[in-house]
Amino acid sequence: MKVTNFKKELTSLIEEKKNKGKTVGFVPTMGALHNGHLSLIKKASEECDIVVCSIFVNPTQFNVSSDLDKYPRTLEADKKLIEDYCDILFFPESPEEVYGAKMEMIEFDFEGLENELEGEFRPGHFQGMANVVAKFLTIVNSDKAYFGLKDFQQYKIVCKLVELIKLDTEIVGCAIIREENGLARSSRNELLTKEGREAASVISYAMNYILKYHSCFTVIEIQKKAKAMISGIIEVEYLEIRDSNSLLNFENWEDSKEVFVSFAGHIDGVRLIDNVRF
Ligand code: PAF
Repeated sequence: MKVTNFKKELTSLIEEKKNKGKTVGFVPTMGALHNGHLSLIKKASEECDIVVCSIFVNPTQFNVSSDLDKYPRTLEADKKLIEDYCDILFFPESPEEVYGAKMEMIEFDFEGLENELEGEFRPGHFQGMANVVAKFLTIVNSDKAYFGLKDFQQYKIVCKLVELIKLDTEIVGCAIIREENGLARSSRNELLTKEGREAASVISYAMNYILKYHSCFTVIEIQKKAKAMISGIIEVEYLEIRDSNSLLNFENWEDSKEVFVSFAGHIDGVRLIDNVRF
């Protein structure tokens, strides 16, 4: 695995491979890599000749600065985890290496997708994420780019982003990877106590309850039940049942072709998210 800190070197390494007719898969990350990330990188290596991965804790997508400071940074372990599947790792030396000296931000119009759910609780998060992803996708210019479906709203916004900035990169959504107790894999899980990690399994339990029993209840009834299951254990920020296409509320199950259940909450001072679709 070749590691570079510089955009110029990265693009020339990629160009060299493309000139030999190789296809390129890209996995952007913020590091603190785990099996969830590895599953994206493995998928990229199955589908493309060359895998490029980036590790960059993007300051513009954190609306709370303590969250940015707390974000785990584990470069040496990250390299070890991915070295068998990744060909080029981009670890930018500084934010300027990604954004340029001016750090100018673009305000994208995602037709409201960015204001729902996570957007309501993390103002500016999706614009910050979209700006850095736009930079990376343009620099790497890969055939495919891989995103985890744990961040389903992010995945939807990135699909819209490539339309807006007219890139040919195919956006591939990859299934959520879970721990044995059902907790969705996340870099933030490393910040949980042993007890918190166990207790957080109630999130996927409640999501599965909705998946299994939704037809026995109205939308509102099952939302209340699932919230009640979780709230004694975890501080619920939201548990919303939305249409997966518009991300908007609906009244009756027949009103949505594909239902998206989205959760965010806090335990041990750590913010966790999860979702299920059916
Ligand atoms: O999902 C993430 O880890 C980040 O939002 C991403 C896509 C790497 C952009 O910083």
